[in-house]
Amino acid sequence: MPAIVVLGAQWGDEGKGKATDLLATTDPIDYVVRTSGGHNAGHTIVVNGEKYATHLLPSGILTPGATSVIANGVVVSPEALFRELDGLVARGVEVADLKVSANAHVIASYHATIDKVTERFLGKNQIGTTGRGIGPAYADKINRVGVRVADLFDEKILREKVDAALDVRNHLLTKVYNRRAIEVDAVVEELLSYADRLQPMVCDTSLLLNQALDAGQTVLFEGAQATMLDVDHGTYPFVTSSNPVAGGVCVGAGIGPTRIDRVIGVIKAYTTRVGSGPFPTELFDDDGVQLQQLGGEIGVSTGRTRRCGWYDAVVARYASRVNGLTELFLTKLDILGAWERIPVCVAYEIDGERVDEMPMTQTEFHHAKPVYEYFDGWMSDISGCRSFDDLPANAQVYVRALEEMSGAKIWGVGVGPGREQTVVVHG
Ligand code: GDP
Ligand code: IMO
Ligand code: MG
Repeated sequence: MPAIVVLGAQWGDEGKGKATDLLATTDPIDYVVRTSGGHNAGHTIVVNGEKYATHLLPSGILTPGATSVIANGVVVSPEALFRELDGLVARGVEVADLKVSANAHVIASYHATIDKVTERFLGKNQIGTTGRGIGPAYADKINRVGVRVADLFDEKILREKVDAALDVRNHLLTKVYNRRAIEVDAVVEELLSYADRLQPMVCDTSLLLNQALDAGQTVLFEGAQATMLDVDHGTYPFVTSSNPVAGGVCVGAGIGPTRIDRVIGVIKAYTTRVGSGPFPTELFDDDGVQLQQLGGEIGVSTGRTRRCGWYDAVVARYASRVNGLTELFLTKLDILGAWERIPVCVAYEIDGERVDEMPMTQTEFHHAKPVYEYFDGWMSDISGCRSFDDLPANAQVYVRALEEMSGAKIWGVGVGPGREQTVVVHG
């Protein structure tokens, strides 16, 4: 299987890191690639009880023999990149080979400043961003005033680009937000200071990956963020500023859609969301608190508590559709072992009518009330199960029911954070 996409099917934090790590260690993988987002991601991998978190780096950085790639669609903070690499090395991790696209856009410290100022300005309408400068960096890219990785190696060009980028930004900062202007010299100096260390990693990653696929090598595209956070297909404007859906992989890596063999949607056995925006199955009662506590639902990047709710099959079907999922990987089934009865949202009620698919407009989605079907719980610890037959009968029924209503077959089920805590349903 040469090209595999792993992506989030809900609002993020589904366990993409675990799924990627599992695939990268059970099959020989040659490349693990990030194609969108930046260090707003937080992916957890647990190996032999040891916990690692990656943000900008692909989880493949921990997989011996795999080359990690940060492709053109990613927004790269060199400061965050080196901090993350140094953090892993300090823990004694042997980091894998890393390649960075010359065309990837750069996040400088002023992007984070603008991100935070903009959020403050939005007041009660704020998105609840990670404050990492992701939105402002993508805005510069789309406005055609972005700085790309290759620009760091030519001071004259870099200065011109930073000058152009800050021109309008500084008007906004000083005249609208009442802040100090950002100095071009300081930004140029900051970015130049990363150039020497970055240069050996930089290459044409699109060429590299296409050549790898031509040679029959296996490439794993590790999604960040998720379908419902996609700027086109998510709950706009409460989204991130990139395309985490499967289509974004082609744009973000410079490979054609015909190259992709498997698209695996990672989905939790319940739902979580960080930041603002609509969330039909969100719980505001003890069940919500219990899901949050038992699931350890605290953000890896920002330490924020995640909002929690039941599984939403409408979201799952939508994710299957817009990503063309070939499979689902269902995580955190073990967390549901404390409930006698487990509700699953099978449809919405919107203004008195039953709706089975994602509504067309955001207004309707804001009005959506979950229609629940109830499943008997298994009331036991399943974290030691290693095959589908090991699972209690009610857990098997739950998995099969989700498969039936979610638009794609369930390839595997997570029963704990560890790499080995996985049950393969369809091998
Ligand atoms: P990502 O952003 O999609 O990679 O997910 P995060 O790492 O932000 O959040 C997922 C959390 O769930 C992490 O703490 C994982 O270690 C944990 N996790 C993943 N799969 C499972 C599972 O099947 N069971 C349990 N209990 N935890 C899991
Ligand atoms: P992983 O890869 C969960 C959310 C933020 C905010 C919105 C916009 O770990 O699943 P941004 O900083 O991207 O402009 O914030 O998107 N968000 C995530 N939520 N998991 C993530 O990544 C996220 N990355 C961004 O909370 O609501
Ligand atoms: Mg995460």
